[in-house]
Amino acid sequence: MILYFSGTGNSEYAAERIGKATGDKVLNLFERLRDGDCSGINSEKPWVIVTPTYAWRIPRILQKWLERTELSGNRDIYFVMTCGDSIGNAGKYLKPLCAKKGLNYRGCAKVVMPENYIALFRTPSEKEALGIIRQAEEAIDQAASVIKREGAFPEPGVTLGDRVSSGIVNDIFYPVIVHSKKFYVTDACISCGKCERVCPLQNIHLNQGKPVWGNSCTHCMACICRCPKEAIEYGRHSKGLPRYTFPKESFKMEGECDEK
Ligand SMILES: Cc1cc2nc3c(=O)[nH]c(=O)nc-3n(C[C@H](O)[C@H](O)[C@H](O)COP(=O)(O)O)c2cc1C
Ligand code: SF4
Ligand code: SF4
Repeated sequence: MILYFSGTGNSEYAAERIGKATGDKVLNLFERLRDGDCSGINSEKPWVIVTPTYAWRIPRILQKWLERTELSGNRDIYFVMTCGDSIGNAGKYLKPLCAKKGLNYRGCAKVVMPENYIALFRTPSEKEALGIIRQAEEAIDQAASVIKREGAFPEPGVTLGDRVSSGIVNDIFYPVIVHSKKFYVTDACISCGKCERVCPLQNIHLNQGKPVWGNSCTHCMACICRCPKEAIEYGRHSKGLPRYTFPKESFKMEGECDEK
């Protein structure tokens, strides 16, 4: 079974594409994460976790959910991490997690996709994004073919920089960088409530029709990137940058997936 978490649609696309290639069931974890639902799941087929990379590891909300949730049935597990550039040494931290759960770690595949971290980096234009996605499809299909034949993903080469990024930088990143204090809403807001609905941590509530952010943000970028009026900004950094969400026409080009 393919389980995925996705803030802005890259990992959703990768998961759906793998599901199509392997004929396996695809489950969006959004509601389970939002509702803190850690009830067990069973699969006769290998587990495949498709996720964005946050600070060179899997997102902490997903890590915690995996720690708490019983995955019964098949004991093999694969990870597919979408990223803007690098997953660092993420595999190092996945192996003990799998061992604790009695799961056989079958490797972690990296898929470079468009950068969505508009709070810190430059997000691509739609044209740039489409070029990156076309290249990513090859990596997704390769991962799917390994999963289909129940092989193992090759172990990636890991540099000192990767170790530092996934280790100490990840440790510092969460307490220092990941907070919602810099989010604010502009007059363009039409009070549609979408930001509230798309937050996987129920961290946004509308007050007199305008979003107010609480203290449990994981920086998934769903609220700022999915606002239909681009009415959310993150400090000065996001001003003028394109809001990134996985382009809907790429799902349509595949002919089978409707808009999510
Ligand atoms: C909080 C945060 C941290 C990120 N950290 C990394 C990273 O360490 N390395 C990287 O290459 N991309 C990083 N990215 C980019 C995303 O992993 C990438 O764009 C991903 O495909 C987004 O997936 P999604 O659309 O499924 O949410 C980060 C993005 C966010 C929002
Ligand atoms: S999604 Fe945008 S327009 Fe809709 S309520 Fe939130 S900030 Fe306002
Ligand atoms: S507040 Fe925005 S960035 Fe933070 S977790 Fe919710 S949707 Fe994601």
